[in-house]
Amino acid sequence: MLRSIQVPLYLRRLEFVRLYYTVRSSSDNLSKVQNDEISKHISQRIKIAGPMTIAEYMKVVLTNPNGGYYMHRDMFGEEGDFVTSPELGQLFGEMIAIWFLNEWSKLGSPKHLQIIELGPGRGTLCQDMLRVFQHFRVLDTASVHLLEVSPLLSNLQAKRLCMTSHYDENAVVYRKGTSHQGVPISWYRRFADIPKGFSIVIAHEFFDALPIHKLQKTENGYREVLVDVDPSDETKLRFIIAREETPVVKLFVNSDENRNHLEISPESVALINLISQRIEYDGGIALIADYGHNGESKDSFRAFKKHHLHHPLVDPGSADLTADVDFLCLKKEALKSGGILAYGPVSQRNFLLQMGIKYRLEKLEESCSEEQKKGLLYGFNMMTDTDKMGLRFKFLSLFPATVEKILNKYPPIGFGE
Ligand SMILES: C[S@@+](CC[C@H](N)C(=O)[O-])C[C@H]1O[C@@H](n2cnc3c(N)ncnc32)[C@H](O)[C@@H]1O
Repeated sequence: MLRSIQVPLYLRRLEFVRLYYTVRSSSDNLSKVQNDEISKHISQRIKIAGPMTIAEYMKVVLTNPNGGYYMHRDMFGEEGDFVTSPELGQLFGEMIAIWFLNEWSKLGSPKHLQIIELGPGRGTLCQDMLRVFQHFRVLDTASVHLLEVSPLLSNLQAKRLCMTSHYDENAVVYRKGTSHQGVPISWYRRFADIPKGFSIVIAHEFFDALPIHKLQKTENGYREVLVDVDPSDETKLRFIIAREETPVVKLFVNSDENRNHLEISPESVALINLISQRIEYDGGIALIADYGHNGESKDSFRAFKKHHLHHPLVDPGSADLTADVDFLCLKKEALKSGGILAYGPVSQRNFLLQMGIKYRLEKLEESCSEEQKKGLLYGFNMMTDTDKMGLRFKFLSLFPATVEKILNKYPPIGFGE
C-alpha cells in the first residue's frame, strides 16, 4: 500500500510552467563504417588475446572513441533507441529538483550548491532542475558539473543549457559554459576530477550503462561468460563459458553465493565508493535512479535498438547495451565505511507518488491545451504504471551519517513504505 502523500512545501510553491511535450527527433546518423570499425576492432582483439569479458565488450561497444554507441549519436526519443523519464515531460525533472531542495533545506541549505549530474543525456533533466532551482532562487552561488563521456552529447547538453560553451578535447574540464541562469557549467570524463565540496549528485539511467561481468553457476563453480568469434562464421560473435576461474570470480564471489546468474560491475562499485566518500567527507546528497533489482538472481544483459530488444552481439555499436543495476550491491558498498546513511531502493512509482507528482500534474493540467494534457498524462502513466516504468525503476538515496538525527525526525520524502 502507498502511504498518504506528503506534498513538500516546495511543491506547493511551484507555479511556473514548461508545458510543452515533445519527443524530440534523433539524429541517428552513425555510419555503417563506424559500426564495422567496432566489429573489426573486437574480432582482432579476440584473435590476438582470446575471448573478452562482457565488461570489456560493453566498454568497447559503448564508449570506444571510434564509433562507440554513446560517442557520436543522439539515441533518445521516438526516432532513437529509447526514451527516458526526463524526456517524457517536465514532471520528472521537477520532482527530482524539489526532492533535492527539500532535503538540502533539512541539512541547513549549505551555501555554494554544487550540482553534479552523471550521464546527462540531452541535458533535459539538468535543464528542468535548473529551472526549478532558479524559481526558488538558490542558484546565486551554484555551479553545475556534468560527467559525460560523449563529445556529441556534451555538445547537445551545452546547446540546451548554455548560450555558448568552449570545448578543449585535451583538457580535464573538457567543456565549459555558463547556463541561461548564469551558473557556470563544467564537463568531465572522470568523477574524480570534479571539485570537492558539498554536492548534490544525481545519476539517472547512468549505472545501467556501466560495464558488467556475467557469471554463471556451473558444476565446477562460478564461471564467467565471455565473448568469442564464432569459429563456424568468423563474421559473427558468440557467447562462451570460461573453462577456468577468471579474476572477477576470485575477487567478487562470496563463498556463500548461491544464485544461478550473477552480474558484477566493478566500475559501479568503484564509482559508488567515490560518491560515498565525497558525501561522507565533504557533505552532500546523492540520488541514484535506474532500472534494477535488490540483489536477486539476474540475467539482464541486453541490447536495445529502435525501442526493441536486439541481440547484444549483433552489429556491435549500433544498439544500446545495458544491464539492471544491482541496488543491493551499491547500498552495501555505500554503507561499508559507516559514514553514510542509505534509503531505498524504492520503486519509481512510490517515489514519484509520495513526492506529489499527481498534485503537480493536476496543477499543470489547469493551464494546458488538450494536446498538452495528453502528453503530460502519457508521461505520468509511463513513469508510474506498474507494468511500465513504475516498478522496474528504483531510487536509492545517500546522506552523510552526521545528519542521522535530522533524518530520523524528518525522513527523506519518497522513501516511505
Ligand atoms: C542512458 S543515457 C541517460 C541519460 C539521461 N540521464 C536521461 O535519463 O535522459 C546514459 C548517459 O550516460 C553517458 N555515459 C555512458 N557511459 C558513460 C561513462 N562511462 N562515463 C561518462 N558518461 C557516460 C551517456 O553518454 C549518456 O549521456
